[in-house]
Amino acid sequence: RGDPVLRVPDAEDVAAWWPRLGPASEKYTRGVVGIAAGSATYPGAAVLSVGGALAGPTGMVRYAGSADREVLRQHPSVIATRSVTEAGRVQAWLCGSGLGTGDEARTELRSVLAAPVPAVLDADALTLLVDGSHARDLRRDAPLVVTPHDREFARLAGEEPGPDRVASACRLAAWLNAVVLLKGDRTVVATPAGQAWVNPTGSAALATGGTGDVLGGLLGSLLAAGLAPERAAVAAAYVHGLAGRRAERDGPVTAPDVAAALRPVLAGLLG
Ligand code: APR
Ligand code: MG
Repeated sequence: RGDPVLRVPDAEDVAAWWPRLGPASEKYTRGVVGIAAGSATYPGAAVLSVGGALAGPTGMVRYAGSADREVLRQHPSVIATRSVTEAGRVQAWLCGSGLGTGDEARTELRSVLAAPVPAVLDADALTLLVDGSHARDLRRDAPLVVTPHDREFARLAGEEPGPDRVASACRLAAWLNAVVLLKGDRTVVATPAGQAWVNPTGSAALATGGTGDVLGGLLGSLLAAGLAPERAAVAAAYVHGLAGRRAERDGPVTAPDVAAALRPVLAGLLG
């Protein structure tokens, strides 16, 4: 395999890919996204991921986990259950942010991995993936997207991303047979086949706790709406970056500001 084909997405790409409403849209056909995130210790992560998912194209968000009270208080349209197996029909899962790494979290991750639908793994799910046997031994037919920051990447890959972040992300993607979204300034998306994208949007204002949780929710929603994993990851990073820029116009940015900025950004982008 030669050098990866490297591309930079633009607004037109993202607008063309984004799933749109049609006259016959119905909440189930728009897609149902499941969020297995948060815990009694970290309920906020669940709220943020759900916030990201609600801004996406799906018609329904299901939450599975023990932060159900907090999630419902902030987002009353969500259907909440305590576990992934109780959640009912879901077309894609996001698993990991604020989940914890105990036995319960491990069970939830296992249920997500066993579901025959696309999954995004983030944060604690990535830690659990490495803890339990080897990430590489993961056997899964449905698409997988992992969204590590540098330290999570190091745990998964066994080494820090190198100076050539694109090459590092492509190696991990091939090794895991998963789409890798390597976060940071200029987030990289890499596929197992060696396609790579560098995200041109974003801002250092996103360097604040919880913005990654928002990104994961948005990405899960795109997958549940049927967008292919590579495009879903690229589009989510692009829009999330624009939301960071928009939020910083009003002063110091918090993760809820980024979630709130997704809607006006999408209104501008999709016209
Ligand atoms: N420039 C542009 N974008 C950035 C920058 C930067 N300098 N720094 C971070 N970002 C973006 C990333 O690309 C990503 O989309 O902000 C987001 C941060 O996501 P995460 O790293 O997942 O951070 P998050 O999970 O939201 O919060 C940090 O993670 O490791 C734990 O304990 C840590 O509680 C902390 C939490
Ligand atoms: Mg994170």
